[in-house]
Amino acid sequence: MTGEGGGRDDSQPHSQPHSQPHRQSYPQAGNAQVSRRPLGILAALPQELGDLIEAMRAESGVRTVTHGRRDYHLGTVHGAPCVVTLARVGKVAAAATVSALIHAFDVEAVVFTGVAGGVGDSVRVGDIVVANALLQHDMDASPLFARFEVPLLGMSRFAADAALAAQLAEACERFVAEEGAAAAARFGTREPRVHRGLIVSGDQFVASSAGVLALREALPDALAVEMEGAALAQVCHEYGVPCAVVRTISDTADDHAPSSFVSFLTEIAGAYSNAILARFLKARGAR
Ligand code: ADE
Repeated sequence: MTGEGGGRDDSQPHSQPHSQPHRQSYPQAGNAQVSRRPLGILAALPQELGDLIEAMRAESGVRTVTHGRRDYHLGTVHGAPCVVTLARVGKVAAAATVSALIHAFDVEAVVFTGVAGGVGDSVRVGDIVVANALLQHDMDASPLFARFEVPLLGMSRFAADAALAAQLAEACERFVAEEGAAAAARFGTREPRVHRGLIVSGDQFVASSAGVLALREALPDALAVEMEGAALAQVCHEYGVPCAVVRTISDTADDHAPSSFVSFLTEIAGAYSNAILARFLKARGAR
């Protein structure tokens, strides 16, 4: 990490919810320093973040801090102080990144944005899923522990923060009401629907009818599958930091998933993310 950022003293006992080793200053339009703790925003891949970093650069300027081989972009975007970063793919990447957001950047809350495979019967490409809870579908220490349970935590489902998830869902509903028809016409998808419920995560890209059927059978209430959210939710639970996850459906996790995922990611994901985050952050910045 660059000089101004890092240096957590791990010899000190941790207080709950989490210790706050230092504060970063956040660029803000007009050069005033923001005293509010920032929101952490992350995605796995650059396309999933849309133009968020460019929007931050235009609004407040960006200060970039490198930590653990990731770039953390600090500034104000749509009126809200934020730290924006790319986690890269998978549960370890997500857990490491959110841990840094908590410890090195003292974020108040965390939002993950990106795409997912649809698992629920009514979930189609172009729909949006906001998590109420998240679970690691590849966690299995049976017979020692129940399938899906995180050993020694005694939990399999990690709740998203109710207020944060509600704000995110409201931003999605507003996007659909204001731009859903135009987005559907532009991208050739059906008009988006917003779903709320269980998102499941694992270190695999699910890309077969058998794979998605197995998920449906094991977890009948799962709406979507991705590779990061439940890891982030576990870390946030352990540190008492509110989190929320929003996913646009890029594929239905079946044999067509690889091509559907690639075209959705390159052509559509950024536009959805921009539209949802702009509404969410403006409402948050206006608090
Ligand atoms: N992210 C987007 N689509 C996915 C899939 N089918 N499996 C896992 N993660 C995904």
